[in-house]
Amino acid sequence: MTVKSYPNSTNGTSSGAGSRLKNGSPSYETLTGTLSEAMLPPDLTEGKPKEWPVAVLSREERERQVERAFAGLYRWYVARSQKMRNWNPDSEFEWSRMRTDHSDDVVQLIEGFFAVEQYTPDYTSEILRIVRQSSGRSNFQLRWGAEEERHANTWENALLFSQRRSPEAIEDYKGQLRNNNWTLPWEDPLHMMLYTVFQERATQINYLNFAKIARGESENPAFAGDADPVLARACTLLAVDEAAHYAFFLEGARLYLYYQPEETLQAIHDVISHFAMPAQNIIPNWPVVAETIYRAGVYGPRVFQRDVIGPVFDNLTVTGKKALENGIKRTREIPNDEGTMRSTALWDVFDPGEAERSVMRLHDKIGAYEASVGRAALDPFHFQPNPDWPVA
Ligand SMILES: [Fe+2]
Ligand SMILES: [Fe+2]
Repeated sequence: MTVKSYPNSTNGTSSGAGSRLKNGSPSYETLTGTLSEAMLPPDLTEGKPKEWPVAVLSREERERQVERAFAGLYRWYVARSQKMRNWNPDSEFEWSRMRTDHSDDVVQLIEGFFAVEQYTPDYTSEILRIVRQSSGRSNFQLRWGAEEERHANTWENALLFSQRRSPEAIEDYKGQLRNNNWTLPWEDPLHMMLYTVFQERATQINYLNFAKIARGESENPAFAGDADPVLARACTLLAVDEAAHYAFFLEGARLYLYYQPEETLQAIHDVISHFAMPAQNIIPNWPVVAETIYRAGVYGPRVFQRDVIGPVFDNLTVTGKKALENGIKRTREIPNDEGTMRSTALWDVFDPGEAERSVMRLHDKIGAYEASVGRAALDPFHFQPNPDWPVA
């Protein structure tokens, strides 16, 4: 048995304790801090040398490693969500102070985002159906669904208090939306993990750009008169949630990339080749919504390339789409029984050293959390290196 040395490992610590509002929710400043932190998930590092024995890692063992990490990441996520983002869509915002004279486009944006988030029961139940074997992933989807549901309710409140749609019109629209049900764009857990990475990042960008309009900072003069602190705060808190969702799914994608690199890179390629935001094919007035979103500069193909694909590739250390295609092609030229060589053919597609360090940092973050609640004494979580990886 050989011993592999790893020069850099990390100790995870939660940052951003920040100030809190009287109801126990974090302050706006704290949430904004959380947002910038989660835009590029923090690398919580302190160097410390470690050594691990290396052996062949079976497929079952790889899957067990991923599952164990998801279980720990889920617990870490819940603790952080309860501490940092425990807000209520009715009481968190001063809805009675919301403006009632917004431009028609702003009202259309609110209605459009309301429509997308209306399908949360479908998103949750459909994804649960394919990840139910994984306790970490399925439990996370419940927590995620609860956070997405409050987005639907936040937008419903914004629409109602804008006084530009009657309660009856909102109910009627809701009924129209619910006549259709959302179905999965991909039927397997790996592709859905990657889909949600891009989707959460895209949603976060949509809300950040809408927040810009609501702060009166849009570069489009048509929105110069739409500043509204209540709406701006709603957009920002939702964007913080989306950033946290993105960070969870990104950690999941990194785990898969480390333990199943070939399948994961293929899934990334598949997802970006067919990506569309959820529910746009079932929202009855989507063409109007999409046109408004595009015209407002909130989202579109260029935004997707620059603010979604770019940062996701950076976070996964993927060099670019062309390298991804070439790497996948090269692995196909190597027989399946040459597992290590197949992995080696992918080293030009992403940075294996950084990909490994990101998984080690995740392990340290989970380990620190589990130690803090006493679990580590009974069920310690050990990092299992992938022996296919090049020695650092
Ligand atoms: Fe959402
Ligand atoms: Fe989300």
